[in-house]
Amino acid sequence: MAPGSSVKSSKTSSKKHPAAKQKPGNDRKSKTQALSTEGAFSSVIPLELQQLLLNIFRNSFPERFGSDLTPLLQGVKQHLYNRDFGRAFGREDYLEAYAVRWSPSRALGYLQIFLDIEQYLRKIPNKNHDDAQTFSFESLGTPSGRQKLNITCLGGGAGAEIVALAGFLDLRNRGLRKDREDGGDPQHATPNDLQFTVKSVDIADWDSVVQKLLNSIISPPPLSKYASAAAKAANTAFLDSTLFQTTFHQADLLGISTESLQALVGDAELVTLMFTLNELYTTSRPKTQRFLASLTSTLQPGALLLVVDSPGSYSTVTLNGAEKKYPMHWLLDHTLLGSVHDEESSTVETRHWEKLSTDESRWFRLPDGLKYPIELENMRYQIHLYRRLPQES
Ligand SMILES: C[S@@+](CC[C@H](N)C(=O)[O-])C[C@H]1O[C@@H](n2cnc3c(N)ncnc32)[C@H](O)[C@@H]1O
Repeated sequence: MAPGSSVKSSKTSSKKHPAAKQKPGNDRKSKTQALSTEGAFSSVIPLELQQLLLNIFRNSFPERFGSDLTPLLQGVKQHLYNRDFGRAFGREDYLEAYAVRWSPSRALGYLQIFLDIEQYLRKIPNKNHDDAQTFSFESLGTPSGRQKLNITCLGGGAGAEIVALAGFLDLRNRGLRKDREDGGDPQHATPNDLQFTVKSVDIADWDSVVQKLLNSIISPPPLSKYASAAAKAANTAFLDSTLFQTTFHQADLLGISTESLQALVGDAELVTLMFTLNELYTTSRPKTQRFLASLTSTLQPGALLLVVDSPGSYSTVTLNGAEKKYPMHWLLDHTLLGSVHDEESSTVETRHWEKLSTDESRWFRLPDGLKYPIELENMRYQIHLYRRLPQES
C-alpha cells in the first residue's frame, strides 16, 4: 500500500503480542486499591498532534510501506512466536517493519498515559534545591522551577516511548508558552521551555531506528518539490533539538552491571518499562527480581517507575517444589513493596517504594480521522506507577 493512503482500524480489541503465549487465568485483584480508574485523568489530545506523531513514523521509514512489509512482518512474528528475539530483532528491515507496524498506535497510547500520570511528574522533588521543592511546570523559568527531566525507557528501542515523549513535551511547552502570556509565539521555543533528555535502552540494536525517529522529530518534515515558498517557509521541525535529546544504549537488563545501570538510570526522574517486564519475567524470573532489586538501589529518591504491560500477564513461579502462576503485577508488588504487603509478618523492613497508581485493565482507543498507511489498533493495558522513597523513610 502506498504511503499516504489511509487505512485506520476501528478494531476494539488489542492484539496480543505474537510472543505472548500465556493463557489468561483467574484475575486476582491486587491488595493495593486501584487509585485511578480508566480515563480518570484522561486529557483530550488534539487530533492534529496525534497525526503529527503518526507522520513522524511515516516520514522516518518511507520505504517500509511497500509490498515487502507483509512478508517482513510475518518473519518478525514467526521469530517472536518462537521467542527467538535474536532473529526477530537481528535485521535492520525487521526492526523498521516492527517500528512502523506496532510503535505508532502505542506512541499515541503512551502519550495519553504520560498525560494521565502528569500529576505525579509535577511532584518530583527539585534536586537543585535543598528543601526538595515541589516540581511544578508552572514555575518553569523561575529559580525554583525544574526545566529539565531525565527519562529512561527500558526496553524502549522500538521508539513508541520516544515519540510519545516528544508529543508530551510539545503539548506542555505550547501550554506553558500560552500561560506565560508574555506575548511570545507559542509555536516557537523559548529559553524557559521544558527540556527532556531521553535514554532508550534495549537488548536489540535499535540505534538506527532511534536515530531516524529523532531526526524526524528535530528536523523539518520532507516537502514535495512543488511546495510553495510559503509552505517551505512554514515548514519547521516538530521540536527544537536543544529541548529534546535522545540517545540509544544497547544493554541486556538481565545481565547489566551496577555501574552501567547507574549510568542509564541514576539521574532519571522517570523510568519506563513498557510491554517489557513480562518479557523479562518470561526470560528469567530470578534474574528479573535481581534486576528490579538493582533498579531499586540505583534510582534516586522521588524517581517514578512506570510499568505498562498486557493485562492478564502471568509468570510461573516454583514455591516449595510446586509450580504456580502469579500475575505479573503481583510479582512486581512483591519485589518492590516487599514486607509492606506482608501484613501477617511482623518483619519491619525499610520501605523503598510507594505505589501511586494501579489499574489492571485500561483501554486507549484511537480517535476517528487519523491517517496512516497501514493498520492502527486500540491498546488494552495494565498500568502501575511507583515512586522511589528516600532511604530513611
Ligand atoms: C514487546 S517489545 C516493547 C517495545 C516498546 N517498549 C513498546 O512498548 O512498544 C519488548 C522490548 O523489550 C526488549 N527486551 C527484551 N528483553 C530485554 C532485555 N533482557 N534487556 C533489554 N531489553 C529487552 C526487546 O528487545 C523489545 O524491544
